[in-house]
Parts: sequence; structure tokens; C-alpha cells
Amino acid sequence: MTDQIIQKMLEKATAAMKNAYCPYSHFSVGACVLADDGNLYAGCNVENVVYNATHAEVAAVAAMISAGAKRVQKIVIVADCNKIIVPCGGCRQHLREFSSEDMEVYMFNNQGDCDMMKMGDLLVKSFGPEYL
Ligand code: THU
Ligand code: ZN
Repeated sequence: MTDQIIQKMLEKATAAMKNAYCPYSHFSVGACVLADDGNLYAGCNVENVVYNATHAEVAAVAAMISAGAKRVQKIVIVADCNKIIVPCGGCRQHLREFSSEDMEVYMFNNQGDCDMMKMGDLLVKSFGPEYL
């Protein structure tokens, strides 16, 4: 399941995870997207004192959009946790904006264990930009 590009994405997501700013939750998350321009963009969670947080997936997508890329082809998400991370509901909707139903979402724990699900299975019968 974990081919070469996924391994590279995991390395980048893990490097970002190590920079997570999470003094409130102590729960570090990293993400890396493969974009339609062929580049990899990573992000980590960033919290603040009023307990808001930018989630790692949103940070990775923001890096992608800021660089001028448009679409997410694949995403790797990793957390410093022995349970395999799953993206929260808000992140699922955010990823849905920039991807298709068959986009592959790879989810890792800190032991290298992995699950993969398609975007359309993580967020079924979803509302998206084509409705407006
Ligand atoms: N977190 C993410 O970065 N992504 C998710 O989808 C789940 C949660 C972060 C937010 C917060 O900083 C910490 O994990 C605990 O919720
Ligand atoms: Zn989230």
C-alpha cells in the first residue's frame, strides 16, 4: 500500500508534525498533499491560547493554494499517537473542496501503521462547490 510517493509524503508530513505548535492539546499532527502541479505541500497543527487550532490538513492545503496549485491528488496525514489518525469533519469538508471522490487519503500512526480511504467514503453524499 505504501509506495514510494506515499513514503516521501509520510517523511514530509512527519517533519511538519515535529514542528506542530500544540501546547494545549499536546497532540501533534502533520499532513502532506500531492498537488496537481506535482509538488508536495506540508503543514502541521497550530494552536492558540483561546483553544482555536489550524488543523494540519488545512495548513497543508493552504500551503498548496498559496503556491498556486489548485487540486489535491493524494494526502498523507500522521499523528504522534499510537492510534491511526482520522481527519476531523471540518477537514473532510475542506479537503472535499479541492479533490475528487476517488482521492486517496492515507492515515498513519507513529508506528508506521496505515489505513487508506477514498475521499468519497470519508464524506459520503457531500455538498460541494458545484452546487452553487
Ligand atoms: N487536529 C488536526 O490537526 N487535524 C484533525 O483533523 C484532527 C485534529 C489537531 C487540532 C488540535 O491542534 C489537535 O489535533 C487536537 O484536536
Ligand atoms: Zn481537522
